[in-house]
Amino acid sequence: TRIEKAGYRHFMAKEIAEQPVVLAEALRSGGLAPTLPDVDFTGVDRVVLVACGTASYAGHVAKYWFESLAGLAAEVDIASEFRYRDPVLSEKSFAIFVSQSGETADTLAALRYAKEKVAKVLAVVNVPTSSIAREADVVLPIRAGVEVGVASTKAFTAQLLTLALLALKAGVDRGRISPEALAQRLAELQALPGLMNHTLSLGPRIAEVAEELSRAQDVLFLGRGAMFPLALEGALKLKEISYIHAEGYASGELKHGPIALIAPEVPVIVLAPRDGLFDKTVSNMQEVMARHGKVLLISDAKGVHEAGKGTWATLTLPDCPGPFAPILYALPAQLLAYHTAVAKGTDVDQPRNLAKSVTVE
Ligand code: G6P
Repeated sequence: TRIEKAGYRHFMAKEIAEQPVVLAEALRSGGLAPTLPDVDFTGVDRVVLVACGTASYAGHVAKYWFESLAGLAAEVDIASEFRYRDPVLSEKSFAIFVSQSGETADTLAALRYAKEKVAKVLAVVNVPTSSIAREADVVLPIRAGVEVGVASTKAFTAQLLTLALLALKAGVDRGRISPEALAQRLAELQALPGLMNHTLSLGPRIAEVAEELSRAQDVLFLGRGAMFPLALEGALKLKEISYIHAEGYASGELKHGPIALIAPEVPVIVLAPRDGLFDKTVSNMQEVMARHGKVLLISDAKGVHEAGKGTWATLTLPDCPGPFAPILYALPAQLLAYHTAVAKGTDVDQPRNLAKSVTVE
């Protein structure tokens, strides 16, 4: 079947807008209620997540979930480093390869390297007939549908959903998650499509902010905890399609270098839901403001109310309690990049020098 833009100006806009439906359908794929993947984590001592680009940031978020929800050691590496650094693997560990296309050369080579050295090789892929899917022991399809835009959007949130369910399964198998806690976590996942719809309605406001971002030369993204990988992803998206130099940093690292860049013409985008780390992130944000940095705070109503004063701009997302807020905060990161690229007039779906699937080393 031919994939059309269905009235959208770009595939990327269409794919961003599809996310509530993609997630709702992926959550229902096993029947009416979400089902946990059929993977047994009993006796597993570690998971190693390996990927490239946006998929590697999904792995970074999942590391926080495997640790906090399952008490399971997790490490992440980019495929091109993993395969050349003599990684120490154990027969009790799982290696998880995350790839939209399932054809990325470095990720495939990393899978082949790990294959005989770990208990099981898992593939989190969008294309179930891909090379990575074929060579893995277990295939976990993310069911995002065809993604055309070179900058990955719906595949990222669908990867996160699959990895969240996998971390929950690990938590259950390891006796860390009671049936009540599991029901609660699944309800939080099921709330995401509705929260995403609400967030998508902020599009016009995000376009306004992006108009000003499009004049920047450098942009910093800050986040703490599982929001740190989202800062990396926000910066990657902006670089890829608007060609503005952007960097993602863990909020706490600001003082160890990037604070030297703070100036009124460098926008700083702070991803900070009102969670247990909020006060810490806000204090980093205030260090930026004290140096006349221009802050865009992305938080929920309570967070914006408590800390929005004195910022350049705020974006108020719906409340997203529980550990899965990174899935929701992916949307403003994507929309900011998208609208900034549109304001700059770049080729959103086919950015220069980039390919959808990189099948060479
Ligand atoms: C390319 C794409 C990125 C993508 C990366 C990994 O560089 O431009 O958007 O994140 O490859 O691709 P994969 O198909 O393995 O997820």
